Amino acid sequence: ASHVGSDLQHVLLTEEQIRERLDELAGEIADAYAGKDVLLVGVLKGAIMVMADLMRALPFSAPVDWMAVSSYGSGTKSSGVVRILKDLDTDITGKHVLIVEDIVDSGLTLSWIRANLESRSPASVEICALLRKPEAAKVDIDVKWVGFDIPNEFVVGYGLDYDEAYRGLRDVGTLASHVYS
Ligand code: PRP
Ligand code: MN
Ligand code: MG
Repeated sequence: ASHVGSDLQHVLLTEEQIRERLDELAGEIADAYAGKDVLLVGVLKGAIMVMADLMRALPFSAPVDWMAVSSYGSGTKSSGVVRILKDLDTDITGKHVLIVEDIVDSGLTLSWIRANLESRSPASVEICALLRKPEAAKVDIDVKWVGFDIPNEFVVGYGLDYDEAYRGLRDVGTLASHVYS
């Protein structure tokens, strides 16, 4: 493994900033689902960190399930093609579903997942995404809880990868140009 710290150009969000924001969002989510059961649905693999921290920040114990979809190849641009690599284990009929994602980039992945889950007759489907790039949006998507709006730059860390690397970084940052070449 290489020394990943030197591969970052600029730290956008520190571990501490992310934790504080997730604590705030967890409070809002807890209020919204007071008296209701909610199923947390994480989107592999990017959402692993935000799911781990959000579920520990929530004041209740919610079940967790995972979907894996493919929308990006090994590069940095969305293909717009979505297919299910791993479906939910859970029947979500009549359930309140909260999709947990690391980032809304073009929005294509989440709008497809939301439509797919809504077709299964759940009680509700909402989205919590740690990051959103307003300038990259290709579709209009209602994300109820957003951690941070960020510039339209390729970011890694805290679950986000470049060619499967850097997911374990504690901060979110942009990659130095030497990494791409
Ligand atoms: C990334 C990211 C989001 C999606 C956002 O996942 O984790 O799921 O792309 O892009 P979009 O809004 O343009 O659709 P990716 O497909 O890279 O898979 P990964 O989570 O396994 O890294
Ligand atoms: Mn993803
Ligand atoms: Mg990825």
